[in-house]
Amino acid sequence: MTVAAVLISGGGTNLQALIDAGAARELDVNLGLVLSNEPTAGGLVRASSAGIKTAIVNHRDFSSRDDFDRALIETLAPHHPDIIILAGFMRILTPAFINHFAGRIFNIHPSLLPKYPGLDTHEKAMANGDQWHGSTVHFATAELDGGPRIMQGRVPVLADDSPQSLAARVLEVEHRIYPKVVELFVTGRLAFADGHAWLDGKRLNQPLQYDVNSPH
Ligand code: GAR
Repeated sequence: MTVAAVLISGGGTNLQALIDAGAARELDVNLGLVLSNEPTAGGLVRASSAGIKTAIVNHRDFSSRDDFDRALIETLAPHHPDIIILAGFMRILTPAFINHFAGRIFNIHPSLLPKYPGLDTHEKAMANGDQWHGSTVHFATAELDGGPRIMQGRVPVLADDSPQSLAARVLEVEHRIYPKVVELFVTGRLAFADGHAWLDGKRLNQPLQYDVNSPH
């Protein structure tokens, strides 16, 4: 079975969605390690409750990104992850880390990329008067939030939204799309090659669009 390491920094609701999808037999992956850069991340508790091994690599203990990323690789190595799932991991990874796991790193980002890479995406969507916002799962490359997009889930921006209410609606769709993308990969339908995402042997020029009204 494919072994995944999940990297988190916070509450870990996307991690929980992956755990739940596994329990529901909708995702056939062995979550071999949950690694956090934040010692108090709530996701560590979720992992322990699910019987998943955890590790903490605190970025504050390292004087450079290179040293931090080297420690990440060393911590991951004994677990032999086939894939790396970034689930609310709020550190920028160096090209050395990305290249070490080339084509095997997934990220979820709370915007309809290429719109709004970086932080404060919900505030930006609201400030621009966007009617639609959402989330994107993509392969991570050395370009921040810039790797080939795989799947997006859209949610409407409502007139009475706050950044918090909008973020909560985006999280709901994230919990649907992330397990689906990982399942596509572990079943061999999704691949990364030549800098692109491929589905069923065809190049994905546009991300798949997840229908929020779908029952699953
Ligand atoms: C998610 O919304 C995820 O898209 C975002 O952090 C949140 C983590 O929530 N990630 C980023 O902003 C990465 N740049 P969670 O800890 O509850 O899964």
